[in-house]
Amino acid sequence: MNDDLDKLRQDLLGQVRKAESLEALDEVRVGALGKKGRLTQLMRTLGQLEPEARKAFGAALNRVKDEIADAIEQATGRLRAAEIERRLEAERVDVTLPVKPEPQGRIHPISQATDELVAIFGEMGFEVAEGPHIEDDFYNFTALNIPPEHPARQEHDTFYLPERRDRTRKVLRTHTSPVQIRTMLNRKPPLRIIVPGRTFRADHDATHSPMFHQVEGLVIDRSTHMGHLKGCLEEFCRAFFDIDDLPLRFRPSYFPFTEPSAEVDIGCSRAGGELKLGNYGDWLEILGSGMVHPKVLQNCGYDPAEYQGFAFGMGIERIAMLKWGIPDLRTFYDSDLRWLRHYGFVPLEVPSMVGGLSR
Ligand code: DAH
Repeated sequence: MNDDLDKLRQDLLGQVRKAESLEALDEVRVGALGKKGRLTQLMRTLGQLEPEARKAFGAALNRVKDEIADAIEQATGRLRAAEIERRLEAERVDVTLPVKPEPQGRIHPISQATDELVAIFGEMGFEVAEGPHIEDDFYNFTALNIPPEHPARQEHDTFYLPERRDRTRKVLRTHTSPVQIRTMLNRKPPLRIIVPGRTFRADHDATHSPMFHQVEGLVIDRSTHMGHLKGCLEEFCRAFFDIDDLPLRFRPSYFPFTEPSAEVDIGCSRAGGELKLGNYGDWLEILGSGMVHPKVLQNCGYDPAEYQGFAFGMGIERIAMLKWGIPDLRTFYDSDLRWLRHYGFVPLEVPSMVGGLSR
C-alpha cells in the first residue's frame, strides 16, 4: 500500500472516531465513499494504471474501503446507542410521582357547605332560586307578614339605604325569606325551592357577622303538611352531617311568616366541653321553620284554602362550623390562606349524593 493511501486511511479513520453525531458521521461517509468521495475518486484512477499496479492498488484500495465502511458501521451503532441512552436520561419518568400535582386553590367551607346542601336538596327535587341582596321593604318585611310597626323589624338590625324621593328606602336583605315572596309572585304552585345566599344585619361580635349566609327552603303544594317538613329536615340533617341516627326535636316557636312555627334542634353532647353531634341526649338549635302563614300565601296571590306549604331557614356558617368543627365565625371572612388551606376543600372533588359529600 502506498503512503498516500495509508495517510488517507488514517485521516478517514480519525474522522470516523471524531464524529459525534449521526449527521457528522454521514458527512464522513459521503466524503469517503459517496459519489464524489475521496476513495471513490481514487477508484476511478485505477483505469490509468498498468495491469500489475492496478491489481495491487485495487486490492489495497478495496481493503481500505471495507475498513472504512466497517468503522462507519460500528460508529453508527455506538452513536445510536448513545442517542437512546441520552433520550432515556432526558425523558426519565418517575412513576412514584402523583398522577396530577394537587391543585393549589381551596374551596371555602361556605362554598363547600352550599354545594353539599344543594346536592342533598337537589336529590329531593328542590330547585335553587335567587334574589337581590338590595331588597325592597315589601319583600323583606311587609309581604312576609312583618308590617311597619311589628317588633320583629327591630330585631333584625337592618342596614337601610338612604331614603329616596318617595320616602321609601331599600334594605340589605336581613334574611333569604324575601325570595319566597319573589318566587311565589312569579310562579304558579307547586313549588319546591331552596335559596342559598348572602344576608346582612348590623351586628358584629364573636358569633355574629354583618354579612353571613342563609339557606331558605320553601315547598308549596295542595296537601303539604308538618309531617313533610319534619321528614324533609330530618333527611337533610342526617345526610349533611352524615349521622344516620341523628335525632331532631321540633320546639314550638314564633315567626311572623309561619303558623305554626317550630325551631329545630339536633342531638348533641357537650361532655368535657367538646361539642359532638349525635344521639347523646343534649340539644342544639340549628334552624327555624314552620307552615307558611295564610297571610303570606294571600300576599302572593295564592289561595290558602287550596295551597299550603312549609318553609325553613338556616345559617350556612353555623352548619359548616358544626360539621367541620370550625370554632370561630370571624375566621370565615379573614381571607387567611393558612386557614383556607386547613379548612378548605380540594376543587376537583365536587360533592354529590352519588359521588359523596366531604368527610
Ligand atoms: N328568616 C328567619 C331568620 O332569618 C329564618 C326562618 C324561620 C326562615 C322560619 C323561614 C321559616 O322560612 O319558616 O331568622
